Amino acid sequence: MSARFAIEKLAKAHKRDDFTCGNDRIDSYFRETVSQDVKRKYATCFVAKEIATDRVAGFYTLSSSNVPLTEVPEPLATRLPRYPTVPAVLIGWLGRHSDYAGQGLGEALLFDAIKTVATAPIGAHAIFADAIDDQAVAFYAAFGFAPLVRPACQRTISAPCWTW
Ligand SMILES: CC(C)(COP(=O)(O)OP(=O)(O)OC[C@H]1O[C@@H](n2cnc3c(N)ncnc32)[C@H](O)[C@@H]1OP(=O)(O)O)[C@@H](O)C(=O)NCCC(=O)NCCS
Repeated sequence: MSARFAIEKLAKAHKRDDFTCGNDRIDSYFRETVSQDVKRKYATCFVAKEIATDRVAGFYTLSSSNVPLTEVPEPLATRLPRYPTVPAVLIGWLGRHSDYAGQGLGEALLFDAIKTVATAPIGAHAIFADAIDDQAVAFYAAFGFAPLVRPACQRTISAPCWTW
């Protein structure tokens, strides 16, 4: 990412009430709910701030998570210990303000999330993402995420985070 943006933890100073990424559920979550989730430690939230304007250009959230081993696709699953669940981190929400479309910011947010997980001092074998619609599925798939073995479910699984 260029020095145009800084990615930092969500703080009170970040203005959220005009955030719009093109998905109403993501917009209202970021405007109205995310701070409560952060306060309760259900999620951490990172924002991309445009340095010149202080505008919030995008955000993502991370939460501890796990997934049943039976839902991990082959050949990933065969290499894993036979514990019932796989420790992971969930990218619950990710959005980029529509004013900054197509400038690589979505990719930068995703890679920052992966870097945050990969360098955190807590074991997390994989990174999962909740894909909100088919476009989001395509976005994650473009970066190597693969679907979980769960019919009609839009959650996706990435390669194990040590590969990043
Ligand atoms: C998905 C989203 C974050 C992408 O952000 P963006 O800033 O437009 O994406 P980038 O400019 O970083 O795109 C980088 C690459 O990602 C890929 N990509 C981006 N959006 C994609 C999509 N919907 N489907 C497939 N690939 C996509 C492309 O390969 C693109 O590379 P290119 O330059 O060769 O086209 C953004 O469209 C958004 O906020 N959408 C609404 C919310 C959403 O769907 N969030 C996803 C998680 S639920």
